[in-house]
Amino acid sequence: MKVLVIGSGGREHALAWRLSLSASVSELFAAPGNAGTAAIARNLPIAATDLPGIVSAAGEHHIDLVVVGPEVSLSLGLVDQLRQAGIAAFGPCRNAARLESSKAFAHDIMRSCGIPAADARVFTSFPEAREFVAGIKPPVVVKADGLAAGKGAVVAMSTREAESALEDMLVRRVFGEAGDRVVVEEYLEGREVSLLAFTDGTHVVPMVPACDYKRVRDNDVGPNTGGMGSYSPPAFFGADMVKRTVDEIITPVVRTMAANGWEYRGVLYAGLMVDGDRIRVLEFNARFGDPETQAILPRLEGDFGNILMACACGTLDTVPIGWKTGPSVAVVLASGGYPGNYAKGLPISGLDSVDRDVSVFHAGTTTGNDGRVVTDGGRVLAVVATADTMAEARERVYNNVIRISFPHMAFRTDIALREVA
Ligand code: AMP
Ligand code: GLY
Repeated sequence: MKVLVIGSGGREHALAWRLSLSASVSELFAAPGNAGTAAIARNLPIAATDLPGIVSAAGEHHIDLVVVGPEVSLSLGLVDQLRQAGIAAFGPCRNAARLESSKAFAHDIMRSCGIPAADARVFTSFPEAREFVAGIKPPVVVKADGLAAGKGAVVAMSTREAESALEDMLVRRVFGEAGDRVVVEEYLEGREVSLLAFTDGTHVVPMVPACDYKRVRDNDVGPNTGGMGSYSPPAFFGADMVKRTVDEIITPVVRTMAANGWEYRGVLYAGLMVDGDRIRVLEFNARFGDPETQAILPRLEGDFGNILMACACGTLDTVPIGWKTGPSVAVVLASGGYPGNYAKGLPISGLDSVDRDVSVFHAGTTTGNDGRVVTDGGRVLAVVATADTMAEARERVYNNVIRISFPHMAFRTDIALREVA
């Protein structure tokens, strides 16, 4: 089949790479893609938000399956439009994607099926929200209801900080419409883990769990980023925890969505806080995680094209899905200065010097005028290694990271360290 991947990040390069290894996939396209996808797929110059452009390109190239990476495309209704045009798509339709695009909606669904999460209150009025946070003990978490490119959650350590986050969202409107409603959440303690699951609207198949690292510097210091690395699996989240999450969280959500007429197909990502044997939901995402996907997909066994098509068609129970036991570690190479200001267009060297069984997924890259790959974003590359043990995977990944360089390259040296220390 012919497959089109939507998006341009490291996640999308990983999706395209895994699809390129599938016997079921004969031809691969990416829109818009990056320098990494260009090596394994045909990049089409269409933005992930250009819905009519994507639908018409999918028709023109006789695409059998469109795999949607970014949440913004899902929340605009790309899957709805593709299905209307008779094109199979991997991802939830717009109504179902509200599990990610509205945090208030996600809380409503969780409440209606008794899923454990932080206590939450929704506000549209700044004075009312301010009065509420003044009456509770910090820390408290303030979240923009809508999509805010991963920047919409503020863990406020003081009442003042919470008030200023509320003011940013409700008065100064720094997230625009996405912050016109806010959710004020109870602060949860514990360890964070991401569990992603494939679903076709009825059946649920979990992936292996993964952890990501959001802060820019070692030891979780510095500002939040889109993600500086990930690994799979975390030792503290074993098979019993995975099963409980599927039975107590993911399956009830998928059933409730279907019962309401918002059938959920694609990947449902549960961001979880684990405290002892308590598992509570921090957030749902309606898509693959970035950079979790870069660590998860190298562990997948099975025909990825067939798995994604089965999710789109409601036949997930018919495809074999397996996982390698060996762990994986993904390290993001970022532009110096990220997540603040950084330079672009810097030449990247050493890409050909990595071991054959180590993956380098491109995120912010492009091809320069002279044909060389140059930096084009904050997160530039993710280097991923698998091995028999976490210690070996770490050693391998960092042995390869140091062969790649570009001016002002930055990366964390402690990805998965807590699993081996
Ligand atoms: P979210 O966008 O909802 O995933 O939030 C981003 C990050 O904020 C999470 O990965 C957590 O580290 C933190 N966070 C979100 N909600 C809570 C909460 N209720 N309690 C503690 N930390 C939270
Ligand atoms: N890694 C977090 C996310 O994809 O939202």
